Amino acid sequence: MAANQPLVVGIGGTIGATSSTERALKIALDAAGAEGFATRMFGGADMARLPLYDPRGTTRTEHEQAFVDAVRQASAVIIASPGYHGSISGVVKNALDLLEETARDERPYLADMPVGLIATAYGWQATGSTIAALRSIVHALRGWPTPFAAAINTQETKFDADGGANDPAVVEQLRRVGQQVARFAPLAAHG
Ligand SMILES: Cc1cc2nc3c(=O)[nH]c(=O)nc-3n(C[C@H](O)[C@H](O)[C@H](O)COP(=O)(O)O)c2cc1C
Repeated sequence: MAANQPLVVGIGGTIGATSSTERALKIALDAAGAEGFATRMFGGADMARLPLYDPRGTTRTEHEQAFVDAVRQASAVIIASPGYHGSISGVVKNALDLLEETARDERPYLADMPVGLIATAYGWQATGSTIAALRSIVHALRGWPTPFAAAINTQETKFDADGGANDPAVVEQLRRVGQQVARFAPLAAHG
């Protein structure tokens, strides 16, 4: 990452195995990277290392600190969640809860940042409700959800390991998420 290069942080995925949500997020992040941004991804394995958020905790683990520091330095964020029982997953929510640590920062939470959103689900219904939930959360965190969000039905869309998918239109939608975030992000590096 070059000095003063603005950063886009990706948060998302699922734990345990190959994650289509994480692959979708990577496509969007790479599109932001192609617009000149440094990128940092917190995928399923990274989020799994975060303990359940204790708001009264007096110490934070190195993984918690790395996550919060990255968001503090970010000019934009992309969040990708699977639809779990109609809403975002607990793993993604736990990571977002940790942003409470920034509550007293000069720029708290996701304030002043464009935030791209991606939802995957095994069917269409939960893609819509998960994106709606993510938009509410981003508003609560004072961020600016970008106009286009990618809703991906993983019953139909299969991702490959090389940054592609069986439906080129889905890849295009994910790139659009990364491009919209990049176009609205402050061009100066933050912090
Ligand atoms: C606990 C759990 C709850 C789920 N709930 C829903 C749901 O409500 N609606 C739906 O369409 N898919 C649901 N799914 C399926 C996932 O959203 C879907 O397979 C998603 O693409 C998984 O992403 P991944 O490949 O990144 O793990 C659920 C899966 C799990 C494990």
